Amino acid sequence: MKIIIVGATGTMGKHLASAFEKDHEIIRVSSSGGDIQADITSLESIENLFKQIGPFDALISTAGPTYVGPWKKMTDKEFRKGIEGKLMGQVNLVLIGQRYIQPKGSFTLIAGALTTDPQLNFANAAAANGAIEAFVKAAAIELEDGVRINAVSPTVIEDSPQYFPYFPGEVPVTMKQLEYGFRKSVFGANTGQVIIPQ
Ligand SMILES: NC(=O)c1ccc[n+]([C@@H]2O[C@H](COP(=O)([O-])OP(=O)(O)OC[C@H]3O[C@@H](n4cnc5c(N)ncnc54)[C@H](OP(=O)(O)O)[C@@H]3O)[C@@H](O)[C@H]2O)c1
Repeated sequence: MKIIIVGATGTMGKHLASAFEKDHEIIRVSSSGGDIQADITSLESIENLFKQIGPFDALISTAGPTYVGPWKKMTDKEFRKGIEGKLMGQVNLVLIGQRYIQPKGSFTLIAGALTTDPQLNFANAAAANGAIEAFVKAAAIELEDGVRINAVSPTVIEDSPQYFPYFPGEVPVTMKQLEYGFRKSVFGANTGQVIIPQ
């Protein structure tokens, strides 16, 4: 399969790219590194990305910029980081990418456990996650030619120890569990699902 990983230079993306590259052609994308640079907050940049790649079988997004910070000082501008980044960035990867994906291809977006289990300082990511989860359910009944879409929604992951203090009592998801959540979406048959790696 020809698999695009947007966010491939990050903690999740690096792991997924190296796990899947043994059996598949992987195109690594991020705003400042990888094989192709694209900024998911720019429609023009997303369009250019797909024009360069052409037809593909699967797109995984682990790119979801959000604002993390104290509630009392949070501003409209800060909150828009997650709305224009994690939400609209990923939505536009699908809205534009549907014109380039092969029949029976798949989109897998990143959400997160904050949707149902909020933590202090993460209101922006929680809101973006909830919207992404609703979006994949709605998109699943709209996409044509057997194209599937799912979201992966992990709690804090083992390779992100910098976040552990923000998630008291959470058992981190292992990188293998995370990988198998993405495997289920990309190589399975389901659509419109929110996959919780565990
Ligand atoms: N880490 C966790 O424990 C955890 C748990 C649950 C959910 N999540 C969610 O999972 C996602 C990924 O987490 P992570 O820890 O892997 O993040 P990360 O290490 O910060 O990696 C983010 C990746 O996305 C790329 N990126 C950021 N903004 C972009 C943009 N505007 N356009 C294109 N690419 C962009 C980054 O590369 P460039 O900087 O070069 O653009 C990088 O490759 C986030 O949305 C996060 O909320 C994370």
